[in-house]
Amino acid sequence: MRVLTIIPTYNELESLPKTLGRLRAAVPASDVLVVDDNSPDGTGQLADSIAAEDSQVHVLHRKGKEGLGAAYIAGFKWGMAAGYDVLVEMDADGSHQPEQLPLLLEAINDGADLAMGSRWVPGGGTVNWPLYRQAISRTGSTYARLMLGLKIKDITGGYRAFRRSTLEALKLDQVESVGYGFQVDLAWRVAKLGLKIVERPITFVERELGASKMSGNIVVEAMINVTKWGLASRWAALTGKKAPASK
Ligand code: GDD
Ligand code: MN
Repeated sequence: MRVLTIIPTYNELESLPKTLGRLRAAVPASDVLVVDDNSPDGTGQLADSIAAEDSQVHVLHRKGKEGLGAAYIAGFKWGMAAGYDVLVEMDADGSHQPEQLPLLLEAINDGADLAMGSRWVPGGGTVNWPLYRQAISRTGSTYARLMLGLKIKDITGGYRAFRRSTLEALKLDQVESVGYGFQVDLAWRVAKLGLKIVERPITFVERELGASKMSGNIVVEAMINVTKWGLASRWAALTGKKAPASK
């Protein structure tokens, strides 16, 4: 199983080297792709210098900040073209502990099409995450779960392992969400395909360095999309047709 861990970065100069070091130590078999959106702080150049020393580390440079979703889609395409079997999503800031990656890879080995790290299943949790962020995450996940009729407890989580065939089935070019709603979007698409999604408990540790890129707009985008998708799928169930506005 060839594994590629994709790490999107925007101004993660301080965090990235630590996360990369931990990942290379915890799961030496995984190659790494840093997807940098031309970070003003020079994260991209730093990633290049690490890649120059380590043949398992690669860097994809993008021209500007186009959002988490766009960065991951570019990373997935790169990884699929390079022939990887499993593609992992991981934040650069240490919140997703590289030492917990084997839990997700084991789930894939056991037959999952998508393995999701979950803060909101028994055994999972957060460390130093502000209460308001926990509240947004829990409320958002619950709303999405009810609206979309899914069982996933942590649907916005960004620590995931995809089987290559899952991404191939997804039609990535149709994914429009740019912010964190991208995570919900992908989970929803995988669920609609009837593929096997499993959640594994993770401990999400709030970053110690740098700043979050989360914004109110990102939350609003996600809520609007979830509402749209939920209504469209109910409409489809009621009428047997696709809703006029849905894709
Ligand atoms: N290339 C690129 N472009 N990377 C980005 C961008 C972007 O526009 N925006 C954010 N990132 C990177 C950050 O540099 C970091 O590595 C990762 O994406 C997560 O960003 P954070 O800003 O640290 O996210 P967070 O801690 O607030 O949010 C966490 O929780 C969300 C809600 O559950 C993350 O785990 C998200 O993935 C998750 O959806
Ligand atoms: Mn973070």
